[in-house]
Amino acid sequence: MRILIVGGGGREHALAWRLTQEGHEIAGAPGNPGVGQLGPLFENVSDALRGFEPELVVIGPEDPLIGGMADELRQRGIPTFGPGGMGARLEASKAWSKKMMEEAGVPTAAATIHTDYQEACEEVAKRFASGRHVAIKASGAALGKGVILCGDELHARHALSRMLLDEEFGDAGRLVVVEDFLEGREFSILTVVSEQGLLSLPVAQDYKRVGDGDTGENTGGMGTYSPVPWVTAEMVEETEARIVRPIVDHLRAKGVPYSGVLFSGVMVVDGSPYCLEYNVRFGDPETQSVMRRVEGVGDLLWAAAQGEALPPVRVTEPAAVTVVAASAGYPATSQKGVPITLGEMPEGVVVFHAGTAMQDGQLVTNGGRVLAVSAVADDLEQARARAYAGMDQVAFAGKHFRSDIGH
Ligand code: AMP
Ligand code: GLY
Repeated sequence: MRILIVGGGGREHALAWRLTQEGHEIAGAPGNPGVGQLGPLFENVSDALRGFEPELVVIGPEDPLIGGMADELRQRGIPTFGPGGMGARLEASKAWSKKMMEEAGVPTAAATIHTDYQEACEEVAKRFASGRHVAIKASGAALGKGVILCGDELHARHALSRMLLDEEFGDAGRLVVVEDFLEGREFSILTVVSEQGLLSLPVAQDYKRVGDGDTGENTGGMGTYSPVPWVTAEMVEETEARIVRPIVDHLRAKGVPYSGVLFSGVMVVDGSPYCLEYNVRFGDPETQSVMRRVEGVGDLLWAAAQGEALPPVRVTEPAAVTVVAASAGYPATSQKGVPITLGEMPEGVVVFHAGTAMQDGQLVTNGGRVLAVSAVADDLEQARARAYAGMDQVAFAGKHFRSDIGH
């Protein structure tokens, strides 16, 4: 099959890698130098439709999904993997998403929604008075920086004023979700959704903070591993039954059929799963670890795009560990144009490009998360050793990474 992959990050390189391993032809729009090693690159989707004539389009990032690209392509008769603009509101608006969770009976932190600063402060005061802490969330898309966890009331008032008075988060923060702080362990699950059913991929765990031991700023994700031994098959089943299926059914009943991948961010509190958020795309870098482990992804994405029953994927690798190499200053800033050299990679290792570019024939940095070293092996310990041996072969000025992924 000829498959066009929209986007240009590590997630898209991982999808492109998997699909070419399965014998499909791929193209990227815009792609990146890693995707470019696997197929042609086009500046934009229109050029790719003309020049590559894909049989299937897979949309990677949230922005084009939220903008309705999937609707547009489907209207033109092009089989497309990804939800339409209405379904993508699950990610575009945390306020709407919370409302849908409540209507669908999905277990989630109790929340109120505010546009008024005074009213929000009163709500926060009430929660602290009854011994609860809060999470304060800008409703709109804020590049993963719109969630502020607050252990005291002063901090919470400050977060609210940043969003509602100072408009530090722009439009994204004009509407604020105040919710109870939940304490537990987190995992992410990617479920492929078709009109004819659901299929969850192996679970991966992400590391969001920039520093070892979960210290420092939040990032887009510094590394992942899969499987997550503490997430049992029963927990996956319960998550599907309580978090995934109810929202898909509820949206369908409202006339918003959802297809594509649904990413559920789950917190396990006292043994029960709670939904922290939905995303409407593959997680990055969760996808890097997951794509290393499974086979049959092309058929799966095709079936979802066609609204057919979903064929199972085969899990061919017992364990994967993916470690991100970031550029100096990330996540606050990043350095572009710094030369990268890649040595010979150990067995089982693949390098996925994210923020890289070619400049006069030289691979250089071009973003915060530069690339990821992704290893498979018979167990997590060995995958981890391979990933870090691979990381030793990556050199660029200012490179930093977490040394505790999969530990
Ligand atoms: P979100 O983008 O909504 O998933 O939030 C980003 C991160 O903030 C999550 O991965 C959690 O670590 C944390 N978080 C979000 N909501 C809560 C909550 N209600 N209680 C505790 N932690 C939370
Ligand atoms: N790694 C988290 C995300 O893709 O949002």
